[in-house]
Amino acid sequence: MPQPRHPALIAVRGEIVHFTGDPAQVGDSACEHFPDGLLLIENGLIRACGPATSLLDKLPGDTVFFDYSGNLILPGFIDVHSHSAQTGIIASYGEQLQTWLEKYAFPAEARSITPVQAAVEANFFCEQLLRNGTTTVAAFATVHPASVDALFEAALARNLRLITGKVLMDRHSPENLSDTSAAEGDLQSRQLMEKWHGRGRLSYAITPRFAPTSTPEQLRLATRQYHEIPGLYLQTHLAEHRAEVDWISQLWPKARSYLDVYAQFDILGPRSLFAHSIWIDDEDRHRLAGSGASIAFCPTSNLFLGSGLFDLARARHFGISVGLGTDIGAGTSFSLLQTLDEAYKVLQLQGQNLSPLEGFYLATLGGARTLSLEHKVGSFKPGCEADFVVLDPNATPLMDWRTALTRTLADKLFVLMTLGDERCVTATHVMGQKL
Ligand code: GUN
Ligand code: ZN
Repeated sequence: MPQPRHPALIAVRGEIVHFTGDPAQVGDSACEHFPDGLLLIENGLIRACGPATSLLDKLPGDTVFFDYSGNLILPGFIDVHSHSAQTGIIASYGEQLQTWLEKYAFPAEARSITPVQAAVEANFFCEQLLRNGTTTVAAFATVHPASVDALFEAALARNLRLITGKVLMDRHSPENLSDTSAAEGDLQSRQLMEKWHGRGRLSYAITPRFAPTSTPEQLRLATRQYHEIPGLYLQTHLAEHRAEVDWISQLWPKARSYLDVYAQFDILGPRSLFAHSIWIDDEDRHRLAGSGASIAFCPTSNLFLGSGLFDLARARHFGISVGLGTDIGAGTSFSLLQTLDEAYKVLQLQGQNLSPLEGFYLATLGGARTLSLEHKVGSFKPGCEADFVVLDPNATPLMDWRTALTRTLADKLFVLMTLGDERCVTATHVMGQKL
């Protein structure tokens, strides 16, 4: 397996943008902008970030230099929710959540059973992430341990930051996709966690798919493992679709809400990540915020499956940490730029705004905070891992035309998030290395 090599010093020149805080809370000063900036990278970590003129003349002669003048340089994008074995079912027609799962998602995941097929899927998934400038991802694999091994291997080979885990399902799921018992699923998770958690840039997430497909015993064991091992994540789905919420009321008639089911099993806490969270109320929001849990906002998926509109303002009001998820393959794009485009529209439909600064904060430092990784990724703070994406705001004739008419950084970023996609990604670097 190729090991990442770090030349002594790397210098990267371009228009640098990153965040030191949340613009929605602290205003525009949360954004650091160097129109002609330089990133200095040592051993894969940020050593300095500032105006090129003040840093250039201090560089030693053997510095490796990347000149991306004319491009924007931002921290690598962070996708806080996706599914590695669902790439092949993007753009599958005509269904909403439950029938979409049965008709498309479950059969796709069942195909990922052999190590060879799992490796093909995992490698393609990681290549798509990098093409789109994504350098950190939290993803579901499938119930098969081979799919988890394959995804960790694929991420390790590219030095991506990955959080993943074996999907836990022991009821209401096809036989070829079910754990034979709660104990077996628990044991497999434990073995995978021992093999991968904390290796390089890899972390393990206990991954019960969602409450309907786990028995109470499986949820109990999942929680036990999550609380037992330091630094472990827990990822699941919550209140994505109204019919799913109705199903929860049938399965747990005494629960106050969908979230209450998870709360009863003590699943909420730091590093727990709930995808969607559309059909929740203020008491749920209060509980999520109080526990330190986070939400993955997945706009392309929510529109594609007709699931509903995520209320970002309300989540913010309660102080819940929110990141952006592509939710491949219900989501329709690997691009965080396209995800921002749809996020903006989801919020417009509710009379809310997503400023370009807030949008790019969510795709970088906001995502890192959602994953409790802000000390590692999401900004160009000295000491952080030097993951970055190089974006060309003139990548297409239309973008070139429109970008020429922008006056401010915010305008330029808004064009990127509205019209941009993988064609804008000039390069993606992971810990300084160009991939
Ligand atoms: N809820 C449970 N499983 C899934 C899944 O694979 N995708 C989405 N979008 N929602 C889910
Ligand atoms: Zn999902």
